[in-house]
Amino acid sequence: MKIKKLLGAALAMAVLAAVSASPSMAKTTVRISHTQIETHPDHIGFVAFKDYVEQKAGDKYDVQIFPNSTLGANEKVLELVKQGVVQFLSVSTANIESFDKIYGVFSVPYLFTSEKAYEGFVTQPEIMEKLSVNADKDGFVALGAFTAGTRNFYSKTPIKSVADLSGKKFRVQSGPTNVAMMNAFGAAATPMSFGEVYSALQQGVIDGAENNELALTDQKHGEVCKYFTYDGHQMCPDLIVGSTKFLKSIPEADQKIFREAAQVAQKAEFEAWHKRIAEAKEQAKKMGVQFFNVDTAEFRNKVLPLHEQLLKENPAMKALYDEASAYNEAHK
Ligand code: GCU
Repeated sequence: MKIKKLLGAALAMAVLAAVSASPSMAKTTVRISHTQIETHPDHIGFVAFKDYVEQKAGDKYDVQIFPNSTLGANEKVLELVKQGVVQFLSVSTANIESFDKIYGVFSVPYLFTSEKAYEGFVTQPEIMEKLSVNADKDGFVALGAFTAGTRNFYSKTPIKSVADLSGKKFRVQSGPTNVAMMNAFGAAATPMSFGEVYSALQQGVIDGAENNELALTDQKHGEVCKYFTYDGHQMCPDLIVGSTKFLKSIPEADQKIFREAAQVAQKAEFEAWHKRIAEAKEQAKKMGVQFFNVDTAEFRNKVLPLHEQLLKENPAMKALYDEASAYNEAHK
């Protein structure tokens, strides 16, 4: 008995010694996941997030960033965020729609017709609060937005009018609104994860996809698709979501640091975005990609009748839809 006690005490001492010898052992690991490469603006945003947290509370938190979908596709990682295994994630609102319908609002095509209006709208902290009404039930909370620019069509054949989409197989992000949108354009919607798109294009499973210019360069889709059309059908942000389980488990002062870090990250990402997008377009041109400006009204008119139907099917997004529409009108 006595020996056992002594051994126990010795063990406790050894553990304490080890902890004080290497303070990192006592730190809480904070895992951040995203799907982009390390030069992407989302990554740059998260580096700013990490720096902020470690500068304010580096003795307590060890922030680790996992880029390139190394922890899995976003649809899967959102589950890990709910469980508190991954603490932060940047994820397109489109991918959140199947978890909470309110996030579908940004997938409504032509909700915004100007990037200025979209950027002004999504950078308001009140909008993140409104999206997060069900945070406790969802298991995650939206803390900030990264812009993902404007989504446009790109394909192996030129898309110069809506008729050029007819019968083609186009990849969309998962989420019912995206599927409805693509079908309304007359194409066959093929939902799949971001990481699967390159090989699907290459193997001819799909004829095209839709995204911002960085998909051409960073994901190399421009190696297969040589035509990019500025139809501007969507502007959906990548949200910085935090695990409510994690945030509730830490002191309030620390929660505040993480919330501030999300705002710092948002600012850094927007700055990096505006620089990077111009470069990416030049890079894509060198890959042989041609960019077309088209009559966006034709594309818009094709899917405007869908708005009413989408709102009927998903009334949870109505209030934000009205607010975004009014904001877009006022900030053209
Ligand atoms: C963009 C966006 C990602 C999204 C991807 C996609 O790159 O930033 O969050 O996952 O598009 O189309 O899946």
